[in-house]
Amino acid sequence: MSTNDLAVSLPKGPRGKWGSTLKLIKNPRQAFEGWIAQYGDPFLVNALNGPVIVTGRPDLIKLVFGGDPDHFSPFATQTIGPILGFGSMLMLEGAEHKRERRLMMPMFHGDRMKAYATTMQQIALEQIKACQSADSFLTLDLMTNVSMEVIVKAIFGGRDRERGIHMFKAGREVVKRASPLLFFSKRTHFSFFGFSPWDRYSKAKADLSAAINSELDDRQSTGNPGEDILSLLASATYEDGSSITRQHIQDELQTFLFAGHETSALAMTWAMYHLHTHPETLARLRQDLQAVPDDDVEQLAQVPYLKAVVQETLRMNPIITEVLRLLKRPLTLGDYHVPAGYAVAPAAVIAHYNKDTYPEPERFRPERFLERSFSPFEYMPFGGGSRRCIGAAFASFEMAVILGTILKRFQFQLLETEPVVPVRRNVTLGPSTGVRMKCLGNAA
Ligand code: HEM
Repeated sequence: MSTNDLAVSLPKGPRGKWGSTLKLIKNPRQAFEGWIAQYGDPFLVNALNGPVIVTGRPDLIKLVFGGDPDHFSPFATQTIGPILGFGSMLMLEGAEHKRERRLMMPMFHGDRMKAYATTMQQIALEQIKACQSADSFLTLDLMTNVSMEVIVKAIFGGRDRERGIHMFKAGREVVKRASPLLFFSKRTHFSFFGFSPWDRYSKAKADLSAAINSELDDRQSTGNPGEDILSLLASATYEDGSSITRQHIQDELQTFLFAGHETSALAMTWAMYHLHTHPETLARLRQDLQAVPDDDVEQLAQVPYLKAVVQETLRMNPIITEVLRLLKRPLTLGDYHVPAGYAVAPAAVIAHYNKDTYPEPERFRPERFLERSFSPFEYMPFGGGSRRCIGAAFASFEMAVILGTILKRFQFQLLETEPVVPVRRNVTLGPSTGVRMKCLGNAA
């Protein structure tokens, strides 16, 4: 008997669309843990975007990430497509998605990625200057500026500073205007005399598109293509010899800006918070960093304890709490037979707190990543399978370079008096404050 012939059986879960959606927007981990306690893992949520079966179980996550990619589509394309553009990698599927990833994968890996190391370090050192002279600063502001500049430089190069700043502002505005509700229901995509969240987002998006277009025009007219991601995209051809349209380039670049800067900034902010609430961990990290010469950025990024700090931060604070796949065909998920049209969601925010996998999961303990390795179904801050984050290596490298650089050279004091907890931003989860700190000067 094939999966198609099995009688549908679904896990239990909370009733009501609005209530459940608002709960998981507000505090996904609390909502998920409450539903697991009540209904078990997996459970079914009738979210505004459609029914979703959520799980944190490695055996079930394996069925999703290890399954045939052609059995799954991206989730909520009708809601997210108008936001990011239908040419965004996040929206593509099947052969088109595969060929897009093949084309872009090298742009974020290997030597091309390492070529950004010195630039990343310079950006961090430049951005931290303002913090050195300030009474205090918000770590999230610092990290947002750093990661935005890193991604803008990677995408647009550093040829024209004015243009770079313009792109930076346009990109930042797009991210700022992406209210969480826009991602959860298409009904929020309405116009109201230029004042609705959708109007504001659309305006920011149009400004960014215009900036990208004018950059492409400029490059074409000067015959100076540059060596950044924009140039690689503009000159790249698929295996059948066809090239990418401008609209498609815009959608992809906006996706990179979107997916590739706020995520890293939030993760680096969490790392600074955890390190400064765990002095013994910070001391060990500093000791290991001191053994590396200042100018050897690549070696710095390879320090095992630094990499473990990055991993442990993303375990405790997955920036994307769960990833979604829409079933094109029925799927047997443990004891359940789920029909096409339902979505399944491997949830890092549950898997990363599994006591069997991670003893004392509430404890920030980077050592766990030096003691053993975890399977891609136990540790998944970058999602998994055929849609795993294309920027995962780039982001991990960037985090190591930037954290390593500033922690090797400077000392900080955490000024937060209350615990900082995760809160929803848009599709991401971030710290409840910007994490206020003071720079105490050079490290001894
Ligand atoms: C700490 C930083 C980051 C985190 C936590 C993160 C996380 C994620 C997650 C969870 C997904 C969904 C994967 C899935 O569905 O299985 C994703 C997809 C994606 N990310 Fe990232 N990401 C980060 C940085 C970046 C960077 C730096 C870039 C690019 C420069 C990037 C570009 C993308 C793209 C294009 C996708 C879509 C992949 C696809 O659908 O095939 N991300 N990311």
